[in-house]
Amino acid sequence: MQSPLFRHPIWYDTIMKVLYQGHLIDRYRKLDRIIPNGVKVVEHCCGSAQFYRWLLSKRDVDYLGHDVNPVFLRWASTMGIPVDSCDIVSGELPQGDWVLLQGSLYQFAPACRELLVRLQHSASTAVVVSEAVFNVGSHPSAVVRKIAHLATALNGRKVSFRFDRQKFRELAESFEDELLLYITGKREDIIVLKGLRV
Ligand SMILES: C[S@@+](CC[C@H](N)C(=O)[O-])C[C@H]1O[C@@H](n2cnc3c(N)ncnc32)[C@H](O)[C@@H]1O
Repeated sequence: MQSPLFRHPIWYDTIMKVLYQGHLIDRYRKLDRIIPNGVKVVEHCCGSAQFYRWLLSKRDVDYLGHDVNPVFLRWASTMGIPVDSCDIVSGELPQGDWVLLQGSLYQFAPACRELLVRLQHSASTAVVVSEAVFNVGSHPSAVVRKIAHLATALNGRKVSFRFDRQKFRELAESFEDELLLYITGKREDIIVLKGLRV
């Protein structure tokens, strides 16, 4: 069964606002500063496309959001947001200059590195990944952890893996020269990897 969190974008945005408070807008402002004008941005696992709605839509970028949740995709389409269905693991990845993944990498453990390499080959310039490194999924209280894991269950699959800063930094550093930027934040870190699409 799908977690209630993913049943409607308005519900999703409300829960995220409560859980993240000011951290979300901090994340969006950082991403907004990283991505230049005049480029094609492909966002995977875009959810309710909040970053696009709040900031990116006001910029000169060609945006396309992707997700697999039909409820989110239908809602985004009715809001005039350019979105399409694409499974980031098994689908053919659309090509972009800048490819973006926010708050979603943990879902694909243990194959996170393989996924990032796949994304690099779909990006001509860079892959930008923002990920929580302190979150309720790794909260010291077992009860809070349980709620967080239930809330983010995808199609009945409970995702218990979460990054902490050490794990995320190790993953980033495994890209060696292809790691262009590592930005630390209060709750989330951002990495920028070199795009490898020729
Ligand atoms: C935790 S939400 C993050 C949404 C958004 N990026 C954000 O930061 O608010 C994870 C998103 O990944 C999507 N997702 C899960 N598995 C996916 C897959 N295999 N391919 C594409 N999207 C997927 C879900 O539908 C959901 O919208």
